[in-house]
Amino acid sequence: MTGEYKKAYDESINNPELFWKTAAEEIDWYKKPTIILDASNKPFYRWFTDGELNTCYNAVDRHVENGRADQLALIYDSPVTGKKEKYTYGELLSRVAEFAGALSSLGVQKGDRVIIYMPMIPQAAISMLACARLGAIHSVVFGGFAPHELAVRIDDAKPKVIVSASCGIEVKRVIKYKPLLDKAIELSKNKPEKTIIFQREEAEAEMIEGRDLDWSELARKSRPADCVPVKSTDPLYILYTSGTTGMPKGVVRDNGGHAVALKWSMKNVYDVDPGDVYWAASDVGWVVGHSYIIYAPLLHGCTTVLYEGKPVRTPDAGAFWRVISEYGVKALFTAPTAFRAIKKEDPKGKLLGDYDLSGFKYLYLAGERLDPDTYDWATDLLKIPVIDHWWQTETGWAIVANCMGIEQLEVKAGSPTKPAPGYQVEILDSKGQNLPAGEEGIVAIKLPLPPGTLTTIWENDGKFEKSYTEMFKGYYFTGDGGFIDEDGYVYIMGRVDDVINVAGHRLSTGGMEEVIATHPDVAECAVLGVADSFKGQLPVGFVVLKDGVNRDNDEIVSELVGMIRSEIGAVASFKKAIVVERLPKTRSGKILRGTIRDMADGKDYKIPSTIDDPDTLKEIEEHLRREGYPEKD
Ligand code: COA
Ligand code: AMP
Repeated sequence: MTGEYKKAYDESINNPELFWKTAAEEIDWYKKPTIILDASNKPFYRWFTDGELNTCYNAVDRHVENGRADQLALIYDSPVTGKKEKYTYGELLSRVAEFAGALSSLGVQKGDRVIIYMPMIPQAAISMLACARLGAIHSVVFGGFAPHELAVRIDDAKPKVIVSASCGIEVKRVIKYKPLLDKAIELSKNKPEKTIIFQREEAEAEMIEGRDLDWSELARKSRPADCVPVKSTDPLYILYTSGTTGMPKGVVRDNGGHAVALKWSMKNVYDVDPGDVYWAASDVGWVVGHSYIIYAPLLHGCTTVLYEGKPVRTPDAGAFWRVISEYGVKALFTAPTAFRAIKKEDPKGKLLGDYDLSGFKYLYLAGERLDPDTYDWATDLLKIPVIDHWWQTETGWAIVANCMGIEQLEVKAGSPTKPAPGYQVEILDSKGQNLPAGEEGIVAIKLPLPPGTLTTIWENDGKFEKSYTEMFKGYYFTGDGGFIDEDGYVYIMGRVDDVINVAGHRLSTGGMEEVIATHPDVAECAVLGVADSFKGQLPVGFVVLKDGVNRDNDEIVSELVGMIRSEIGAVASFKKAIVVERLPKTRSGKILRGTIRDMADGKDYKIPSTIDDPDTLKEIEEHLRREGYPEKD
């Protein structure tokens, strides 16, 4: 039916309280909320303030009580170990209740923080749900981050307990997590009382007596714990995300708004029903993993797939098709880079012919811009709707999407379509004035944001305001630039800050600069995200050495590459730095990062009138040409 999207969208904006009150009916509450939107402390809006619920109960227990005990809740598929495991809702409940009991035996209670530093194994999901069961606040740290990054998060979240595993597996490489964890704890000021380690057979961890506990032993001894009612506004989790500096932002998610929005999104955005198999090929360390591997599919009574592998090399570019056909996946959600990886290895999609994909209905992509080439390739190959949607760690679910469960709108390649219900997306200039259709500016969202979006930065309301709501009064600043066309389609063109997107992973160039600046030979540096046809963007460092340094540049560059790998992690994909004589700056001393980036991307660039010395740009251009970066188009 046409007009359904407009109707739903208008209702959500004209009468948000009625709209979300209706959505909240889908959640089981211990105490039903009577206050839907609480605007008494702007810009800190709160949803369902007087409601009480438990997120784990809604994601697990209630399905067991309502006849889904024998339905599969979670499928673990690990091509890197050859293991496959299936958990019904009944089994998942036993495991989660048991592990919640284990945490509780260590004194973990409502409001305590638990850091989870784990690879893609079922125990990661069980840990998250067990925390939710107790009302404890989990903070999952992506396994690809190095000890320093983990330490920064430990110091900010101050966890009572850290849950980890002995190792992760990257294709064939076994990465021992325990030494990384030990190092992080050594570096941190707020040390946890205990750690719980899940021992994997690929690498057994050495335990520290008195501090480290074995997951299996502890779980065996523990009595199952029940769900603890929490307030709608109590935090469910903290998820750290890259900002413009080396200090990540601890995005806080509440329980009530999150459960309501995520449950609602499963039918309305993704068009899946309870019982369907839904697969988000991401990692539990990212927001996509939180929202769409764990919480949303389980809140909706779907079967979720937890995949410990890659789109390629595990074992080949048919890996995704194998999983889709083996488990009858209806909707797959991943990042465009995964499809670029498949396309690179199997450009004609020959491997698809080996599998029955008749149950596969939708491909959803997000995490970075969906380039039209990848969109066309996936659409031609799969002959199903390929849906781009735009969101962020902060929002927890789609801001702009083609909401397939409401109405399938016409697709315009390069646009994630129109704002999802609840989001008033506008394009502003730097002074906060609305820009006309087609004109590029800063993408902002009028407050209040809908349920499920961040409530604050962990223990730092000031940083929340500074980062998001101070720039334009009454708006949330997204950090993205873009425009809206005359038909209301939103186009996201990239970040306007120092955040970059590498293979769908959000990283801070400012954080990398902070690491490089500590090298004894470096006087000054700028790290930029340069366009890359495979990973979307790749960080490249431009480094000025201190006077008198007389060492081989290649040696220094390889030290810098090693420093980023050991301080931030392999996931930063920092492989390139160029030693230059000077960095181009404005007269006030600001490095012209945007101009260098445009130059490296081969784009037309303007020499700013504020430049201090135009020759510095010429020098950079010469360096870039020598390094093989494209000429201006
Ligand atoms: N633990 C340890 N190391 C990790 C890691 C983890 N959890 N995740 C990634 N790394 C390492 C990789 O092994 C790689 O190391 P290398 O430089 O020694 O090869 C490095 O970090 C970079 O990782 P990545 O950018 O993922 O590159 P890749 O070549 O291994 O894989 C893709 C590229 C595109 C296949 C992969 O990134 C992918 O599938 N991405 C799409 C899905 C996704 O993750 N989306 C996230 C948001 S939706
Ligand atoms: P993260 O918080 O890791 O999810 O990263 C969020 C950022 O990724 C956004 O601010 C955008 O810059 C980018 N992003 C996510 N999805 C899209 C998309 N569909 N199109 C363009 N950019 C996207």
